[in-house]
Amino acid sequence: MNIRCETLADYPAIAEVNILAFGQENEAKLVEAIRHSDCYIPELSLVAEIDGVVVGHILFSYINLVGEETLQVLGLAPMAVLPQFQKRLIGSALVKAGLEIAEARGEAIVIVLGHPHFYSRFGFEPSVNYQIESPFPVPEEFFMVKPLPSYHEKYRGKVVYPRAFDGV
Ligand SMILES: CC(C)(COP(=O)(O)OP(=O)(O)OC[C@H]1O[C@@H](n2cnc3c(N)ncnc32)[C@H](O)[C@@H]1OP(=O)(O)O)[C@@H](O)C(=O)NCCC(=O)NCCS
Repeated sequence: MNIRCETLADYPAIAEVNILAFGQENEAKLVEAIRHSDCYIPELSLVAEIDGVVVGHILFSYINLVGEETLQVLGLAPMAVLPQFQKRLIGSALVKAGLEIAEARGEAIVIVLGHPHFYSRFGFEPSVNYQIESPFPVPEEFFMVKPLPSYHEKYRGKVVYPRAFDGV
């Protein structure tokens, strides 16, 4: 398996992976909307490929953390692995690769809405531990953050997702 940044030629395969993994088109549309927004970070849209075929995708993009000041932080969404390739650690490899790039860029914190069973293994913790408030009415253990070495206490407040996320 190889993990690399997406290229233009990957767009259709990435859409297909998202549609098949989620069983709907919303996340594929979200990826497109983020690409067309100023929240897009090309370096943090990663694909996992096996024998040259895209089997997984992960996207980190900028979202806002609104506290005393408004800060840009990373949001992890969406992530998808083709159903027949799931549970082979491809998703884990994508998360780890993304976190390494995020850290190397000097990003401070990554935010995700997801299952704690999966994300806690990468060091994600409930956002409430860091006084970061979810915009969604979900149980607090599902809204998680992963502080990176550049994290500082000023990163607190309420998360606001950009317009690109409206349709999801
Ligand atoms: C989530 C997803 C990307 C994980 O990819 P993957 O390659 O299967 O992940 P890995 O093989 O690295 O890890 C699998 C582990 O995560 C767990 N896991 C993954 N998604 C989970 C979920 N939604 N709820 C509970 N556990 C989950 C698996 O049970 C497994 O745990 P185990 O190692 O204790 O058995 C993949 O399952 C997928 O595409 N799911 C559909 C789309 C989706 O829900 N995306 C995530 C949105 S946050």
